[in-house]
Amino acid sequence: MSHDDIELLIPGPVPVSAEVLAAMAEPVRQHYGPDWLPFYGEFTARLRRVFATTASVYPIPASGSGGIEAVLGSLAGADGHVGVVVNGFFGHRLLDIARSYSRHVEALEVPWERPADPEETRRWLRARDLHLLAVVHSDTSTGVLNPVAELASAAREAGAATVVDAVSSLAGTPVETDAWGLAAVASASQKCLETPAGLAPVAVAQEGWDIIDRQTSPGCGWYLNLRRWRQYEREWPHHPYPVTIPSSIVVALDRALRRILDEGLTARFERHRRAAAALRDGLERLGFRVLADRRWASPTVTVAYPPAGVDATALIRTLRARHRIAISGGLMHLAGQVIRIGHLGSQAQLERMQRVVGALEACLREGVPTTR
Ligand SMILES: Cc1ncc(COP(=O)(O)O)c(C=O)c1O
Repeated sequence: MSHDDIELLIPGPVPVSAEVLAAMAEPVRQHYGPDWLPFYGEFTARLRRVFATTASVYPIPASGSGGIEAVLGSLAGADGHVGVVVNGFFGHRLLDIARSYSRHVEALEVPWERPADPEETRRWLRARDLHLLAVVHSDTSTGVLNPVAELASAAREAGAATVVDAVSSLAGTPVETDAWGLAAVASASQKCLETPAGLAPVAVAQEGWDIIDRQTSPGCGWYLNLRRWRQYEREWPHHPYPVTIPSSIVVALDRALRRILDEGLTARFERHRRAAAALRDGLERLGFRVLADRRWASPTVTVAYPPAGVDATALIRTLRARHRIAISGGLMHLAGQVIRIGHLGSQAQLERMQRVVGALEACLREGVPTTR
């Protein structure tokens, strides 16, 4: 079985354009020095535009979790008082990461079907005297979009800064690092940024640096410690990062960023909204129940329960075998209960959504074998 003919509609990684793939195939470039730095400056300027920030940005070589660990670990430190919104698998991941750094971490458990409420969050943070709020923007396990702008504003009123996991939202739905007053944001190359996995771009605003600079201990770790990234940026102008950044993936991400900015962020967000709506309408017509209410459904991923009597795992397997379309299953207590379909970046096309709905319809009509 060849993997070439499988259409990837899992919630990342996403199919990558021929142009980005060609960029990865170019001869490997030296990742520092005068031939590289003008390009690197343009690359970081483009990255800032996508993060909507004038702040520091770093392309950390890691998967998304590495970027989250860098921002959350560096801002939490050992003594930070951190509150984590937990309304999905990736909220649990944030909590695990926060607890691996800090002694004072509390979880705001919210039902997975709904977003965190800003007013409730404000009261909760204040009552516990927490100074840092960590939240997943679009939880890829539920398809629920947390209202990050409102949560950050509520956190500010409670005296807390906000760190955001924007792994499955950046470049698919607005993420306004500066306008929303976010202290730090982490993302990943393989989702709406339409590049293979390997880079975790992060943005750190002045508020984030102020938190880091107020810490009395030097923070944990070396590689993912943002102090280290800033130190090399300041002290090593010919090589403004502490490690060998993967130049081929940086070049590929830069090509993808050009395409993203050429499309225009506003047009792009609208494309994601329309794909999400088309998919939802199609699934509901077939008798699926989408987990997230329309009011807070993520524009980048949809999670749905199949019609009664249809086994989610068997449906996913049948769709792949008969129609060569890959979608994902549920995580944690949703395992075996739901399907997850990505409309991230290159996936967010009406034709792709119509194709997957048509293929699901054919599976239901022809029958889905439930024996495993
Ligand atoms: C919202 C969210 N956060 C974090 C991650 C973890 O990213 P990675 O698997 O690249 O470490 C993912 C991955 O799917 C995600 O969707």
